[in-house]
Parts: sequence; structure tokens; C-alpha cells
Amino acid sequence: MRKNIVAGNWKMNTTLQEGVALAKGVNEALKNVTANCDVIIGVPFTHLASINEVIDSTKLGLAAENCADHKSGAYTGEVSAPMVASTGAKYVILGHSERRQYYGETAEILKTKVNLALENNLTPIFCIGEVLEERENGTYFDVVKAQIEDSLFELSAEDFGKIVLAYEPVWAIGTGKTATADQAEEIHAFIREVLVAKYGEEVANNTSILYGGSCKPSNAAELFAKPNVDGGLIGGAALEVESFMGIVTAF
Ligand code: 13P
Repeated sequence: MRKNIVAGNWKMNTTLQEGVALAKGVNEALKNVTANCDVIIGVPFTHLASINEVIDSTKLGLAAENCADHKSGAYTGEVSAPMVASTGAKYVILGHSERRQYYGETAEILKTKVNLALENNLTPIFCIGEVLEERENGTYFDVVKAQIEDSLFELSAEDFGKIVLAYEPVWAIGTGKTATADQAEEIHAFIREVLVAKYGEEVANNTSILYGGSCKPSNAAELFAKPNVDGGLIGGAALEVESFMGIVTAF
């Protein structure tokens, strides 16, 4: 059966020293609780190797926030999937709306990144989600379906089974405006139906679908109580141990 997961996405926050301290804090806090979910932190590239040294990888997973769409070569400033894997990270966040919006990541580019991640034994945490206009005009089902189809549906069932999905409505990211638990459940259930149609019940039921967008300790339990919400991808609230742990313990 699918896993419950709470994953932090630190985005472009914290210096190396601050990040190592935050990771240590989460690692310590996890010693004192029984987490009913897998816990992951997604951190800047510069922090990966150092953080890998200070965390207990059996309790806390480590993710990069992106990887390049090439394996190696003359791509100044890029960081490849093999490089990410060599730090000890086991996950990579791909397709975040900020990458799609500000860095022009297309479905085609993301398909390549997903393939490279999988080739390097990294688990993609693949983000999808509509903008406000698409929510308001009712096209969000089609938008989300296309995002999944266009980047992921050439994968074999075996490879698709390695993907974690994160539904993050763009209008809820960093806005303080969370999707209601019912809104999240509606689209998560729809996503699972899309997966059933393509890969069958077993693969669909084994796929973790996380919710992201202004998730906080105060709303996490209600969201996570929904049958098709398998956890959260957490931005702002992942930047402090207390609020992140408040979400982890919401399960
Ligand atoms: P916030 O939790 O800050 O809204 O960010 C969500 C997000 O984008 C996680 O990837």
C-alpha cells in the first residue's frame, strides 16, 4: 500500500550553516516522536552533501529541488542527476510550478529530467497543479491530467511505480490560501482515476499523492484525513523545526 509522506521544500532559503542547523533540528526532533509517515527534506544543491552527513537516513530522507535535463557536459551552472545521487540524496523534486513558471520548464524537459532521475535511482517527487484562472474556469482537471500525461505516461508501469506525485495548486502556494480538504480530495481522487485508467488499480493505489500549498500544522490533519491525500509537500512551514514537526505529527 502507498506510503504517507511529509516532505519539506526549502526552496531558495537558508545559508549552508542555517540549513545544516535546520536539518539537525529536524533529525533530533524525529528521535522523540513516532512518525506515522516518511519524512523528507528538500534542500538547495549546495547543502545536500553536508546535510547527508548529519542526518539519520533511516528516519529522514533527503531530496534535491531540481536536476539538470542532461547527464553531464558543457552546461555551465547546472547540476545533474548523477551529481545529486552522489551526495546521498534519494529524492528529487521535479516540475515545481516555480520551475515551470520562472525557468520555462516544459513537459518535454520534465520528461527528460524524470528519466534521468530514475536512471540514477532517485525518486522523483513530481509536482502538478493549476493556476488560479484554471481553477476558476473549471479547466483544472484537464490541466492536471495533461501535466501527468505529457511528462510521465511514457513510463513503464514499473517505473511509474517509483514516482511520488505532489498536487500543488499554484494559487495556494505561499499565499496562505489553502485548498480546502474537500477541494484537495476532489482532485486527488481524480488524479488517482487517471492513474487507474492508464496503469491499473494496483499501481494507482500504490502511488502517494501529496498536497502542497500553504499546508500548516493547523490544517494538515484535516487534509491528511482525506483518503486520497497521502501527505504534504511543505514550503514555508518546513523552514522551522516546530512547524514542520507539527505537520509530520498530524498523521
Ligand atoms: P508553501 O507551503 O509555502 O505554500 O509552499 C508550497 C510549496 O510550493 C511546496 O513545494
